[in-house]
Amino acid sequence: MTKEVAWSTPDRSTVAVAMAAAAAIVVLVVGALAVVGRSGSPGSLVERQNFTVQYGQDPLPSGTVREFTLTAATGVTTISGAGPTDVWAFNGSVPGPEIRIGLGDTVRVTVTNDLQVPTSVHWHGIRVPHSMDGVPGVTQAPIAPGESFVYEFTPPDAGTFWYHSHKRGNEQLERGLYGAFVVEDDVPDPYTQDVTLLIDDWLLKEDGKLDPDFDFGEDIRHNGRWGSDLTINGVRDPGLNARPGERLRLRLVNTSTARIYTLDFGLLQAVGVAVDGLYAGSPLEADGFVLAPGNRLDVDVTIPVDASGVFQISDGFTGGDPLTLVAINVEGTPVEPPSFDPPNGSVPDWSSARNWHPDRVFELALTGEEANSQPVGLAGDPEGDFRWTINGRSWPDASTHIADLGGTEKLRFVNDSSAFHPMHLHGQFFQVIARDGVPVREGHFRDVVLVGAGETVDVVVVATDEGTWILHCHIQLHAEYGMATLYEVSSAGR
Ligand code: C2O
Ligand code: CU
Ligand code: CU
Repeated sequence: MTKEVAWSTPDRSTVAVAMAAAAAIVVLVVGALAVVGRSGSPGSLVERQNFTVQYGQDPLPSGTVREFTLTAATGVTTISGAGPTDVWAFNGSVPGPEIRIGLGDTVRVTVTNDLQVPTSVHWHGIRVPHSMDGVPGVTQAPIAPGESFVYEFTPPDAGTFWYHSHKRGNEQLERGLYGAFVVEDDVPDPYTQDVTLLIDDWLLKEDGKLDPDFDFGEDIRHNGRWGSDLTINGVRDPGLNARPGERLRLRLVNTSTARIYTLDFGLLQAVGVAVDGLYAGSPLEADGFVLAPGNRLDVDVTIPVDASGVFQISDGFTGGDPLTLVAINVEGTPVEPPSFDPPNGSVPDWSSARNWHPDRVFELALTGEEANSQPVGLAGDPEGDFRWTINGRSWPDASTHIADLGGTEKLRFVNDSSAFHPMHLHGQFFQVIARDGVPVREGHFRDVVLVGAGETVDVVVVATDEGTWILHCHIQLHAEYGMATLYEVSSAGR
């Protein structure tokens, strides 16, 4: 067994993938959903009690404090081979360093801003105390140039998360200010490799430099900025080496500001085990999974012992030729595949969620309109007079929806536009219960749901985390041009 994660450029001319006896592949067996109670806070509503008993309202700090520093500064990387690409990076690398801790660890991250502009860091998907959520104007003041901010929290959930700038994301994420954040299980399963794959796309000019128009009018009006070059962990055409028989946990994260990926695992037997950080409870179809900006999918992949050659994981979202995301180069002496049930961890049992009919429905109409007023966005940008809105209001003009702490409610996203909107709620997870009024059976949680053009998506939320949270489209140009609102979870009045 090998533990190291070796990135290399595979031989692209290796065509044949020998995979005889595919039928012999052991189909993964589903274990029963393990419900491990953590300390539930007393709740006043049945849903809250049902929920928190299994979910753990409060993190259980082990006492271990892990210190990290992240310094945001300009840097240079190589993406295209045509020439160096100027980036903004944490600690000089794109992506920034992976933060990987154990469940129960407390992190203390000192973020220093060595850029010329304000920034902030948000811990996407991690249920942090409100003041640590990293949203300028909502949970903190932006970190001014030359200043630092110390984030400290104990993540209550194990899983795959990520961190990124939450200031002018259409530019700052696009320039490279993001990284992975993994919270390992108490007792991690014995995968031979556990690898985070941060998928990004870059819009480069011919000389390899980033296209400098981060506020391009057509991108604002349509589906955001889509790139010309894909990278995984900052590398174009990455390869992952594995020996036959290895069992991999791959943590895929869509860090793109706009691009959507439809995952295709080709000849690999890939089983989805977690979505947006949380274990799914039962195996998911990984092929065809749509990974919208912000989404994560963890897959459990066993390489057959008699396999060799190159296996591709690719994207088929646009319906054109599949784009290779990562090539797994299988060679070497076979190893004995580790045998264990796919993890399903301690997740709340929301199996009844689809039967809940919360009286409260918070409807969010998602639209865009030409505002014939002053141009907004970058000073002097003549194309910036288009605004995205939620219920007719455009961030930072936003109403605050108030949810009762511990209460259940339905959120209904009504997309009255011809663009995609991957909607993201901070501070809590939700389950999708219907699309266009037709019940759907998603057993897992999410913190981002893709709402297609003209589509209506219903999700159910149990409001577990107190505070005022931002709810926004994760296409960074849509959020920057107004598609954001506030969701306040409050215990007032109860
Ligand atoms: Cu990943 Cu508010 O964002
Ligand atoms: Cu987030
Ligand atoms: Cu959008």
